[in-house]
Amino acid sequence: MLLQANMLRKMPSSRGFRKNSVRSTPHGHNEGAFRLDAVRGLAYIYYIAPWISVCHRGFHVTNMALLTNKQPTILASQKISQTATVFQQCISPACKATYSVDEIRVACDKCGDLLDVVYQWDRLRVPGSLDEFEKKWQRRHEPHCFSGVWRFHDLLPFVPVDQCITIGEGQTLLHPSDGAGQFVGMKPGRLLLQYEGMNPSGSFKDNGMSAAFTHARFVGATRAACASTGNTSASLALYCSVTSLMKAVIFIGSGKISYGKLSQALDYGALTVQINGDFDDAMARVKEVTQELGIYLVNSVNPFRLEGQKTIMFRVLEALRWEVPDWIVVPGGNLGNSSAFGKAFHELKELGLIDRIPRLAVINAAGANTLYQLVEKQGLRWNDGKPQMATVENYFDEMDRQGRRASTIASAIEINRPVNLNKCIRSLQWCDGVVREVDDQEILDAKARVGAGGLGCEPASAASVAGAKKLVAEGVIEPDERVVCILTGHQLKDPTATVAYHTTDQEQFNKVLGSRGVRRAAFANRAVAVPNELDEIIKAIRLYS
Ligand code: F0G
Repeated sequence: MLLQANMLRKMPSSRGFRKNSVRSTPHGHNEGAFRLDAVRGLAYIYYIAPWISVCHRGFHVTNMALLTNKQPTILASQKISQTATVFQQCISPACKATYSVDEIRVACDKCGDLLDVVYQWDRLRVPGSLDEFEKKWQRRHEPHCFSGVWRFHDLLPFVPVDQCITIGEGQTLLHPSDGAGQFVGMKPGRLLLQYEGMNPSGSFKDNGMSAAFTHARFVGATRAACASTGNTSASLALYCSVTSLMKAVIFIGSGKISYGKLSQALDYGALTVQINGDFDDAMARVKEVTQELGIYLVNSVNPFRLEGQKTIMFRVLEALRWEVPDWIVVPGGNLGNSSAFGKAFHELKELGLIDRIPRLAVINAAGANTLYQLVEKQGLRWNDGKPQMATVENYFDEMDRQGRRASTIASAIEINRPVNLNKCIRSLQWCDGVVREVDDQEILDAKARVGAGGLGCEPASAASVAGAKKLVAEGVIEPDERVVCILTGHQLKDPTATVAYHTTDQEQFNKVLGSRGVRRAAFANRAVAVPNELDEIIKAIRLYS
């Protein structure tokens, strides 16, 4: 484990690792931590799903992952060129400070802005066309070809593929849904739903977590932490428990996380820190705590997380046989997805792998609508890297003055201070994007229509469908355009909201939904109460079926 030893020299034993970490330009990376001696001794860890069954467009892991160790086969010369071609860089064009890929950072030291993972593509092997990735399907017995993230490794090559950690993430489905399409106002076949709830932990987070986890291991981390509205924590806890490679520490706002998600973190054995506050409070705290204790932070401020989330778009293109859709519609919370999607398309276009970029619609919940307010109401723009930061600062000052807190039934996106704001507005520029807000009523009605078509979703995910409906009604989206809505989390994540929508119990409805301004359940599928008598049961079935 020489690599780890080298890495750990740069990691603090207890605190302040960011100060200790070595800073270098991308061209100075060769003496960085990817040392050749290290490579030789590195345990090559990956996970094999031993039993796989074919589904219509890919494969499902149907059994527990199995850990194996094996020596790396990578050649020394490949290692050096890999190192020199990837680095982290401040997204601000006025700053552009660079940092080595083996540093642990969530912000630029010089100016405090967010960081990107940047590749020198001309020095990397990139496929000549996207359909080259189809060759990976024939090698799906190999874990990194099976993974819906790592089969696109050529487009996120920040560490060599044999050091990438997978638990079988990204076996997700792009599904045409005419039921939801009709609800949205689309012509048949034009609305497609990307079911990210099919990931191992039940949400899109596994795409990013496999990448952040890979980077965390790469730099020798032994503990990883996040603040979460539930899905990031479930995903981190799962990666830690399946691999036993790291310990998970999760921060959640008290009473702010649905039971499905909380149950996952507890079951998977994460250290769960429940703080008195909401996600925004937890996020601020986890940044402090991770810096203080030298714990690796896996929230989407971590640029490596977003590299993994780019692959959601690669899979959408793959399912469309590499045709670019007209629109991608995605819920917006901490704005990691929208940031990652924009970067994915921007890079594909730069590489000449696509000829146009789809438009992006980011949908806020009305009770957590910072992005909507700033972009659509106050005109905030990326402006080629010169966003009006005074507008942002005033907005947050005013929010604090009024004591405004995020509040929506879509608890996953109940966030008022999105950490990826700047990257998201950059994506909006790249993708000619728009932002909309939808209220809890609109979210739950959309969720019911998605669920009625099968493979349902959690409330936050349905914001994308509700947002698409709004954009069609406004004439921004045309009914015959090809629209992909991202369903970010599984239907079983939040049964409380679902059951309250369908219930006949007015008290329960009022308690869970009425308190949030939801007045009706137009698409409810109500349970039929019958006495436990054969005749009555038969009568009821005849009457209702
Ligand atoms: N949908 C679901 C189901 C989510 O869990 C989240 C974020 C989002 C959408 C928003 O995505 O942050 O990329 O804009 N959940 C985070 C969490 C905050 O902690 O699980 P984003």
